[in-house]
Amino acid sequence: MHFWALISVYVWAGGHHLHYSALPDWAQSLGMVMSLILLAPSWGGMINGMMTLSGAWHKLRTDPTLRFLVVSLSFYGMSTFEGPMMSIKTVNALSHNTDWTIGHVHAGALGWVAMISIGAIYHLLPVLTGQKSMWSVRLINTHFWLATIGTVLYIASMWVNGILQGLMWRAFNADGSLTYSFVESVEASYPGYFVRFLGGAFFLAGMLLMAYNAYRTVSSEDAIEPEKTAQPQLA
Ligand code: HEM
Ligand code: HEM
Repeated sequence: MHFWALISVYVWAGGHHLHYSALPDWAQSLGMVMSLILLAPSWGGMINGMMTLSGAWHKLRTDPTLRFLVVSLSFYGMSTFEGPMMSIKTVNALSHNTDWTIGHVHAGALGWVAMISIGAIYHLLPVLTGQKSMWSVRLINTHFWLATIGTVLYIASMWVNGILQGLMWRAFNADGSLTYSFVESVEASYPGYFVRFLGGAFFLAGMLLMAYNAYRTVSSEDAIEPEKTAQPQLA
């Protein structure tokens, strides 16, 4: 259901990128309504993923790879809640072209896409190379916290910047002139950009740990004999 609902609904939601453009008004509204509908299958998929852990929640305490997968689902849920909200035309009038969009992008890009990929790689690398596990579970744990904190710093700073920019751009004086110049809104965004830089540095540091851990895992001498692994053998 998740798959077919995304396939059939997402194509109609694209109009949310073209609010207040030359796109006919009815098509913009269709994009908004379809984006709101999209919340349901997105959350259905997210909940299905979460509930797969029913009865096994305790594994999160010892398995940082699983933590990556669960937190990626949380960010998927968060960005697919935020997206439909941003598609509402009155909300989009504030968020469009601001750093809010950039924050939303990276809630999906870092929180969901990168985290689920990282979790998958941590799971698959030992399987593919015939090792018992990754070289260091502690490094996976450290990576998990660096990635999570980095993503939160990125998203939160862009929310603040986005709302700040949106409000500054639409502020008018009594005589109808603009209260702030564009450059003033860029200057006001510097603190947010610094926090995003810190978030990016956290995320990058985590990826470097992953590269080192992967190198040590692949080059480790303790590979299990191929016939002793549970992998299906090619005929
Ligand atoms: C129900 C799900 C979602 C909806 C309804 C949605 C809706 C939106 C809206 C309204 C915008 C702002 C458009 C604008 O003002 O220009 C946007 C931008 C964006 N979203 Fe989402 N979003 C969803 C999920 C996601 C996810 C999960 C990702 C990433 C994995 C993502 C990636 C992006 C990107 C890359 C942009 C920026 C596009 C650009 O460069 O202008 N979205 N989305
Ligand atoms: C530490 C990691 C990352 C940092 C610090 C970072 C930073 C940035 C910055 C500064 C921009 C330009 C924003 C602007 O135009 O104002 C950007 C844009 C973008 N990034 Fe990232 N990024 C990171 C990772 C990723 C990843 C992993 C993905 C995809 C999986 C991604 C997807 C995008 C997209 C789609 C845009 C265009 C957004 C738009 O114009 O609407 N980023 N990123």
